Amino acid sequence: MANNETAEKKPIKITETILRDAHQSLIATRMPTELMLPILDKMDKVGYHSIECWGGATFDASLRFLKEDPWVRLRKIKDGLKNTKTQMLFRGQNILGYRPYADDVVDAFVEKSVANGIDIIRIFDCMNDLRNLQEAVNATNVIKKREGRGHAQIALSYTLGDAYTMEYWMDMAKKIEEMGADSICIKDMAGLLVPYKASELIKSMKSVTKLPIQLHTHYTSGVASMTYLKAVEAGVDVIDCAMSPFALGTSQPATEVMVETFKGTEYDTGFDQNLLAEIADYFRPYRDECLANGLLNPKVMGVDIKTLLYQVPGGMLSNMVSQLKEQNAEDRYYDVLKEIPQVRKDLGEPPLVTPSSQIVGTQAVFNVLMGERYKMATDQTKDVLRGKYGQTVKPMNQEVIDKVIPGEERITCRPADLIENEMDKLESEMKEWKQQDEDVLSYALFPQVATDFFKYRQAQQEKVDMTKADSKNGAYPV
Ligand code: CO
Repeated sequence: MANNETAEKKPIKITETILRDAHQSLIATRMPTELMLPILDKMDKVGYHSIECWGGATFDASLRFLKEDPWVRLRKIKDGLKNTKTQMLFRGQNILGYRPYADDVVDAFVEKSVANGIDIIRIFDCMNDLRNLQEAVNATNVIKKREGRGHAQIALSYTLGDAYTMEYWMDMAKKIEEMGADSICIKDMAGLLVPYKASELIKSMKSVTKLPIQLHTHYTSGVASMTYLKAVEAGVDVIDCAMSPFALGTSQPATEVMVETFKGTEYDTGFDQNLLAEIADYFRPYRDECLANGLLNPKVMGVDIKTLLYQVPGGMLSNMVSQLKEQNAEDRYYDVLKEIPQVRKDLGEPPLVTPSSQIVGTQAVFNVLMGERYKMATDQTKDVLRGKYGQTVKPMNQEVIDKVIPGEERITCRPADLIENEMDKLESEMKEWKQQDEDVLSYALFPQVATDFFKYRQAQQEKVDMTKADSKNGAYPV
């Protein structure tokens, strides 16, 4: 045991995820801004390394389901967090959408994210193709140089497979440092990183880079807090946690539990448990409400051991089950599970994270139900084979390429090099709705959903104007 009096203090830093990943993972990203605002003042006093509060699926969910402007949400959150850094999740060249964008859209999105209040941008790519991350990193660095604000973190999608050796992760860490990123995140979206492996991984990566390393995992498979313990002992700099009412299950380990775990050790966070308890008290009634209305399904709160067994993310399994149900083919579940590793190998063994997880899962379902491999291929499978998602860690299966896209030319360059700048075109398509520059970006990401939102917003505004007009005539409709 280290002597607490003399041991060098290296407090573990914590990123709080309750405003982004925790509710994305447990309640389909439905936490509204109005619920977040009253507690920001207390959260700001905790001493978090950062609070993750934007990006990922929150942008889409705000516009689509909550009828909220995500940019307004960001500005309000930033207003409430005077001392704590804000953090977002950014899908590389796909930004927060589901297709690759031209560099000018990536640049504009990074610019507006920082301008509206983001401090740390966590950027990842479903293929771990670093070329898909370079533009977002460059854009962040330009702002940092100009304004002294903005931090580019590159997240590696953690996955298992023949290609993913310790050498692979060490090599990636070196490359990330060379790319000019400020820190590295190991993003274990499926909870596949087990405790002793985490220790080895952190030590190995630390041996080749000076960049801070942050660990992000999910409790899905039940090992997450042990994984954090070993990672912290191995020298990880930051861990991602969620306040207890929205922790565990498919979310992160609980903040209060990790804080207590390291109390009195060299890793002591120094956080005030009473303050954390007040914050938990604030969120608990909302948790109860979500349980009561079904938004929070107790099923996602347990341990999903299949995740470890089949090494695929929980969300991918549930998608697969619903696809099979639609086809009245639930009895083929285990056949599809066996097909997944094969499809993944054919496609160059990519990490399984949005969207590659859906692409591999859907193709595996097709292969099994058609009774013949790649008799039918989805458009996304074709695009992966064409190289449109980027380079995979291993070569793709040539036989599958010849069968699915015979004679087609494949891309080997950075995919976005083939996409013409598109901001002007996007702006001209949506200009009748534009009330702020950010609206062009909302439209770029989700053209239909954003347009519906703009219509809703206008209707709301006109209602307000009508009320004013009526009031002039002495009428006060309620
Ligand atoms: Co996550």
